[in-house]
Amino acid sequence: MTEPITPLAELWRLDGQTAVVTGAGRGIGAAIVSRLTEAGAAVVAADIDPPLVSGGADSLRTATIDLRRPEACDTLAHLALDTFGSLDVWVNNAGIYPSSPLVDLTDDEWDRVLDVNLSAAFRGARAAARVMRRLGGGVIVNIASNAGMAAGPGTAHYVSSKHGVVGLTKSLAVDLASDGIRAVGVAPGVTKTEGVEAAAASLRQAGWGDLDDYVGRTTPLGRMAQPDEIARVVVFAASDLASYVTGTTIVVDGGQLISFT
Ligand SMILES: NC(=O)c1ccc[n+]([C@@H]2O[C@H](COP(=O)([O-])OP(=O)(O)OC[C@H]3O[C@@H](n4cnc5c(N)ncnc54)[C@H](O)[C@@H]3O)[C@@H](O)[C@H]2O)c1
Repeated sequence: MTEPITPLAELWRLDGQTAVVTGAGRGIGAAIVSRLTEAGAAVVAADIDPPLVSGGADSLRTATIDLRRPEACDTLAHLALDTFGSLDVWVNNAGIYPSSPLVDLTDDEWDRVLDVNLSAAFRGARAAARVMRRLGGGVIVNIASNAGMAAGPGTAHYVSSKHGVVGLTKSLAVDLASDGIRAVGVAPGVTKTEGVEAAAASLRQAGWGDLDDYVGRTTPLGRMAQPDEIARVVVFAASDLASYVTGTTIVVDGGQLISFT
């Protein structure tokens, strides 16, 4: 006897759920907030700068917070609970990607990148898991990078942090499955965001050349991603469309990683 299957139109919905998104002020994070809201979730959108994201007034709460502060993620988890009464989806998206020749990379810069990109993701996942396990489960989505699987020039700190995020996702899946919590990584390739535009000059200095040319040459799909193309995969990962997906990182890079060109 086969189980009745849930209609596809319902599987992607997040009605009645609450999500926290970090780094939500712009770029990929803002696109994720927009799509999660469309899927029916209430969202706490957090950023070090005041987030400019928009959404239904009742379903969106913004928070200005520096994730390098040790208590920041616990504060956000409780803000979600206090405001919307649940916490079902946590998206570790905030990230920084400065570049530097390896021999000039300072200890401080190494620590800063690892702290924002990896340690804050760990603190976010831990804060989320402490709440979600009490509520019966949830999903943690970590925004990694295809630099979590291969290395480009001048970005040892970033590459190391994102390899760490891919590993963290595996550990979360193993440690939290019995609490009903899935963990999924989403690894963008080069995506047209404010952060990338700002980094283009220093990436050029690091040996990437012109970023549009570089992406055109090295990516089978021949262009950068739009932030929304990453956000759509986050909705998939967070929803019951991905109910049997955990511990893996989904690469969303236009084929760059698998191409020799
Ligand atoms: N854009 C790309 O090409 C690309 C590619 C691969 C992976 N990623 C990853 O996607 C994520 C988002 O990238 P993006 O391009 O949208 O970046 P972005 O710079 O455009 O936006 C990042 C946001 O994170 C916030 N942030 C940074 N440090 C913070 C802190 N300490 N506390 C709170 N918020 C903080 C920033 O204020 C900003 O609003 C990052 O994790 C990045 O590594 C991006």
